[in-house]
Amino acid sequence: AADMGADLKEVLLTEEQILGRLQELAEQIWADYAGKDVLLVGVLKGAVMVMADLMRALPGSVPMDWMAVSSYGSGTKSSGVVRILKDLDTDIGGRHVLIVEDIIDSGLTLSWIRANLESRHPASVEICTLLRKPEVAKVDIDVRYVGFDIPNEFVVGYGLDYDERYRNLRCVGTLAPAVYA
Ligand code: PRP
Ligand code: MN
Ligand code: MG
Repeated sequence: AADMGADLKEVLLTEEQILGRLQELAEQIWADYAGKDVLLVGVLKGAVMVMADLMRALPGSVPMDWMAVSSYGSGTKSSGVVRILKDLDTDIGGRHVLIVEDIIDSGLTLSWIRANLESRHPASVEICTLLRKPEVAKVDIDVRYVGFDIPNEFVVGYGLDYDERYRNLRCVGTLAPAVYA
């Protein structure tokens, strides 16, 4: 495999910026959930890095669970069809759920997941995303914790993929046009 860095057009967020912001969000989350048990629910596969670093930035022990849904496939555009590929192991009835995501782009994935989880009668459902794109303003979705608002460009790295690649980049960046060719 060729050097991933060579495929980048621009670095939008460095590893240092990402980890610094996750630390701030972790402190806010810890304060907001004081006295409550919170269950972190990650959305596979993009959220793996955010989950790993966010939960380690929390000062106390928290459980996690995972869901896998299909919405994008291998392209760069949302298909609009959401399907559960792997459901939670946990019964979330009466639990405080915090969904952990890497990015909200159209908002389609998360509004569907949130509605799906709400139907299981949890005590609460909130959302934490590292990245949010301007498109999401068109959908009415309440996101409690946002790491960074970014421009409407296709980004990779820190869990985000293009055709399953670049997830292991430590930064978030845009790809050079030649990569898509
Ligand atoms: C990406 C990303 C979010 C979702 C955001 O996941 O990780 O989960 O798309 O898009 P939306 O707001 O327009 O719905 P993807 O479906 O590519 O799966 P992946 O996490 O396995 O890469
Ligand atoms: Mn995803
Ligand atoms: Mg993807």
